[in-house]
Amino acid sequence: MEVIIQPDYHQLTTVASEIIRDALLKKPNLVLGLATGSTPIGLYKALVRMYKEDRLDFSEVTTFNLDEYVGIPYQHPQSYHTFMANYFFDHVNIPKENQHIPQNTTENHEAFCEVYEETIKRAGGIDIQVLGIGTDGHIGFNEASSSLASRTRIKTLSRSTLEANAAHFGGDVNAVPEMAITMGIGTIMEAKQCLLLANGVSKADAIAKAIEGPITSMVPASILQMHSKTVVLIDETAASDLKEVEYYKRSYANKLKLQSR
Ligand code: F6R
Repeated sequence: MEVIIQPDYHQLTTVASEIIRDALLKKPNLVLGLATGSTPIGLYKALVRMYKEDRLDFSEVTTFNLDEYVGIPYQHPQSYHTFMANYFFDHVNIPKENQHIPQNTTENHEAFCEVYEETIKRAGGIDIQVLGIGTDGHIGFNEASSSLASRTRIKTLSRSTLEANAAHFGGDVNAVPEMAITMGIGTIMEAKQCLLLANGVSKADAIAKAIEGPITSMVPASILQMHSKTVVLIDETAASDLKEVEYYKRSYANKLKLQSR
């Protein structure tokens, strides 16, 4: 795992956007796995800025979102369809037909999930999967105790996720949909690269467990220790429970030194 600690949220999302920009310049038909939530908003803003000011071209990009609530319409202000349109898709030139978000209104979830997996395969697999992390260590909506080999499926949200997401539903925990379709942990692990972003002290415990704790389904993000190309990009506060901060900082400084030679 490569752990990159940045002084603040702005700088961590800047580094994340540069990783995606560099990959996109090398491979114009990049396949991106995308997350929602408050964490990646700064990343989407930076990519929109690169599109508008630097003419970064997304016209051949394909995207797959990690998850979507079940039981609310696409047009709901808190659906992940609405989120992605507001923060990213309405502002860059990714063709509509290349944008994939789990369908929250399908009658046949099982068949839909199989098709979603197939569509990812047909696109050649995900090149970079953007991830946030829940305070309980979840990635996507793979809650604690999720199978580490799981595939796209329906999951019931944990109490802590419902409580964390209530803020987006007027503070009413009962208004948060109880279920979601999410890529599985096995699906996420097949991405060629994972980019896990976290900021704020509320994520410090989950980050420490995911990076330095044992691999366990009780902290789903800990499986990323088994991924050969995961970059964890965090700010100082999210890094505050890590034991090896000095080592991660020195390793990153050395990497930059090598790159500037
Ligand atoms: C959202 C997702 C979730 C979030 C996580 C953190 O698509 O997959 O795993 O990344 O719940 O959410 P925020 O960023 O709002 O703290």
